Amino acid sequence: MKEAKRHTITAALPYANGPLHLGHIAGCYLPADIYSRYLKAKGKDVLFVCGSDEHGAAITLRAKKEGTTPQAIVDKNHAIIEKAFNDFGIEFDIYHRTSSKIHHETASEFFNDMHDKGAFIEQTTEQFYDEENNQFLADRYIVGTCPKCDSDGAYGDQCEKCGSTLSPTELINPKSTISGNVPVLKETTHWFLPMNDHEKWLKEWIETGRLDGVEQHDASTWRKQVIGQCKSWIDNGLLPRSITRDLDWGIKVPVEGGEGKVLYVWFDAPIGYISASKQWALDNNKNWEDYWKKEDTELVHFIGKDNIVFHAIIFPIILKSHGDYILPTNVPANEFLNLEGDKISTSRNWAVWLHEYIEDFPNKEDELRYVLTSIAPETKDSEFTWKDYQTRVNSELVAILGNFVNRTIVLTHKYYDGIVPSSHNFAVDAMHQITAGQLFSMKEKIEDSIENYNFKEGLTETMGLARLGNKFLADAEPWKLIKDESKKEEVAAILNFSLQVVANLAIAVKPFLPNTSKKLLQQLNLNILNWEDLGRLDLIREGHQINKAELLYQKIEDDAIEAQIEKLKATTVNQSNPKAKPMKDEITFDEFIKMDIRISTILTAEKHPDADKLLKMTVDTGIDERTIVSGIAEHYKPEDVIGKQVSVLINLAPRKIRGIESQGMILMAENNEGSLAFVSPEKVIDNGGEVR
Ligand code: MF3
Ligand code: ZN
Repeated sequence: MKEAKRHTITAALPYANGPLHLGHIAGCYLPADIYSRYLKAKGKDVLFVCGSDEHGAAITLRAKKEGTTPQAIVDKNHAIIEKAFNDFGIEFDIYHRTSSKIHHETASEFFNDMHDKGAFIEQTTEQFYDEENNQFLADRYIVGTCPKCDSDGAYGDQCEKCGSTLSPTELINPKSTISGNVPVLKETTHWFLPMNDHEKWLKEWIETGRLDGVEQHDASTWRKQVIGQCKSWIDNGLLPRSITRDLDWGIKVPVEGGEGKVLYVWFDAPIGYISASKQWALDNNKNWEDYWKKEDTELVHFIGKDNIVFHAIIFPIILKSHGDYILPTNVPANEFLNLEGDKISTSRNWAVWLHEYIEDFPNKEDELRYVLTSIAPETKDSEFTWKDYQTRVNSELVAILGNFVNRTIVLTHKYYDGIVPSSHNFAVDAMHQITAGQLFSMKEKIEDSIENYNFKEGLTETMGLARLGNKFLADAEPWKLIKDESKKEEVAAILNFSLQVVANLAIAVKPFLPNTSKKLLQQLNLNILNWEDLGRLDLIREGHQINKAELLYQKIEDDAIEAQIEKLKATTVNQSNPKAKPMKDEITFDEFIKMDIRISTILTAEKHPDADKLLKMTVDTGIDERTIVSGIAEHYKPEDVIGKQVSVLINLAPRKIRGIESQGMILMAENNEGSLAFVSPEKVIDNGGEVR
């Protein structure tokens, strides 16, 4: 690793529009926390910042949905998120928020500086507009089908299903999120970042890590997906990107002509890293500029893959065109974490919420850190399942790490009253082999892994040490040797060695499992161990008194796991019927009431002359008599349906079915195996009665 003097580590600011789930944690907060803890353990100068992202359509739309104000939404969620981070032990140096005064000032000033420099262009373009709500539709105000992955519900700026970054005009069948209406195009003026002007240096910087030929970072350490996404963006040609919006929630555009407009959330949010740093510097008597403007500072952005373009292209352009700022040394983006065979979805509540985990599994933060790091989606999407969680905790943490430590501490008390016995220069063959080899090379391997952002690998190396110790102790069998008077020295050497391994573990697990590290130190009765001492076999002296053994981990029982699976299913789609289809994408009330459904009586019915499956019926809708063709002939004879009261969607556009115009649709309910039933009123209702 190039020697950086100090490290600025950022983790994507979560939107304050809902709580955190395990996908967020595995995506960027846990790896960022491991990295920060590691550097701090090495005594480095580290600033680890994060905060709530409180602007943008994610917030205003949530407020609208919950019938409250954006401010109320962010206040509530900021508190929930901050608490969950705290309880879980993601140890930021500051957790800030973008609604703060210092952030508004910082972002405004940033915009002004760039504006003065001529870093923006002003453009009048046609943008989607909702005529019913008199509002321009940017970002999440517009949804449609994703042009990249074909899934519905992609937003105007991004598809959350595949992570692609989009612009509204790319969406197939765009619709207003507020009204469901098809939008019209209307002119509006905005400030744009002329990204096209930055293509040249960006390409060089992304591909080679150089700026004007001077190396900034080692491009070979950047993840393939990150470089890949950036390259494909650049190769497709960068376009000017609008960085202001016609909205009233956010940071007011601070220049003339900006009335009624705010900064685009993706312009202000990354600046949130800077304003958080400023606040931290104020609170801690530091100089924030050291962490953002000095060449010997390493800046690393931890993010999920849906944030790549914003952190590796757009924000660097902003930083560079502002001037004075350093660019990121790396942008380690993770892929997505799936859950029990399906994508995590907040709208379907298919998620494990962090604050609920903390409640359901008290004092088991390290267990979750362990599992999420073991399955970290570093190079491809990965999957969390409760069964796998249980297996990893029980057969790895409990059976290997926990077991080894416990045996070592318990035996030391049993044979030596908790006083560290002599190593007798480790006069045991097997021991020598192990010591010389694996243990010694371990420090470098763990460091290499972490410094290259391979946290999963780093954890595997660390667990390797526990495995080594566990196997060593099991093979050495001191509990047998102790009975043999002539093996006294050997037993002492075995336990001394085991205790040294436990001490090494206390150091090595610290970035990954901080609570475990603390417990190990406590049991060894040591205050502190330095990272640099990792690999040494004299960490704990002969004659030192250790503390009593305490179990590090407890087995996760089947019923706890079953309860979680139940909970997941119960709060999701009504799983009382496992065959029921998942809920469709959410709609607004405005969209719903557009459907005009009326109680109608079937007056006549006959088989369609040309189609076996169709019945041709006339119905009395209360406002007219009309013809409806319906595919129910295999389920009902004409004489069975005459006189029935049913529900009819009467404002469905008429369409010809096998030559006969059908003027509406009779609503039918379908059973698992495909049999049909009418949706009829439970008592007689006048024809024309509305169904709502
Ligand atoms: N709120 C964004 C998201 O959850 C991330 C913002 S990162 C920042 O996708 F850089 F803009 F802060
Ligand atoms: Zn998509």
